[in-house]
Amino acid sequence: MVYKIRDLSKKFGKHYALKNIDLDINENEKIVIIGPSGSGKSTLLRCLNTLEIPTNGKILYHDMRLTEHTYKNVQGKIGMVFQNFQLFDNLTVIDNLTLAPVLNKIMSKEEAYETAKEYLKQIHLEDKENTYPRNLSGGQKQRVAIVRTLMMNPEVILFDEPTSALDPEMIEEVLTLIMEVSKKNITMIVVTHELKFAYDFATRVIFMDKGKIVEDGEKEQIFNNPKTERLQKFLSNIK
Ligand SMILES: Nc1ncnc2c1ncn2[C@@H]1O[C@H](COP(=O)(O)OP(=O)(O)OP(=O)(O)O)[C@@H](O)[C@H]1O
Ligand SMILES: [Mg+2]
Repeated sequence: MVYKIRDLSKKFGKHYALKNIDLDINENEKIVIIGPSGSGKSTLLRCLNTLEIPTNGKILYHDMRLTEHTYKNVQGKIGMVFQNFQLFDNLTVIDNLTLAPVLNKIMSKEEAYETAKEYLKQIHLEDKENTYPRNLSGGQKQRVAIVRTLMMNPEVILFDEPTSALDPEMIEEVLTLIMEVSKKNITMIVVTHELKFAYDFATRVIFMDKGKIVEDGEKEQIFNNPKTERLQKFLSNIK
């Protein structure tokens, strides 16, 4: 088991962004989370990565409780990809890729450089090594951001709407890379509105609404045979 989440709630002021979430996530699962705006998808991912600390309940990561005191133990093991890339604007592509693995002593400088070059070749950006993020397209930035998480050999990667800031013609190249990454033995959780991708990628789909998990099941069941009216309505709205 990678995550064991019990009775997780997160409040902002008086408002519950997450309410009484119970969830188990196993190794190598490929999960898509869907749900309307404000349903708590980002907050859940941020709790899984200790970017938010729960108000109530607990999150166990391989039996270790995630808190503000233990988060250091999971740094690097849990990667995150954001809608707005979050590359270091003042660093070149190669420095963006090599910084964390070298700082965290996961690789030597030489090893990190060689590994980064190999990844850049795989995503057809070998000529962008010394380019700054501002001179990349959105799709290129996001592919670099994804490869940056891979440089840390993560056990888990969380993707929060990785393609929603991209022009339509760049969405495909990013989704293709995520599909490619999914062949690896990495637990992946992706928040997305791209239903075709979700169908190809996911082994399991979670539908959230108002801070709760409303449905959780195999993709065939969720997409072809939704149990709740709420999910039926949501799906017909985005199709
Ligand atoms: N830092 C914060 N401070 C106050 N309220 C917040 C904060 N972060 C999230 N919220 C609130 O918590 C609820 C859940 O937000 P969250 O961002 O998790 O939703 P979401 O499902 O990711 O939505 P979207 O699809 O728009 O990204 C919303 O009502 C939001 O306004
Ligand atoms: Mg969100």
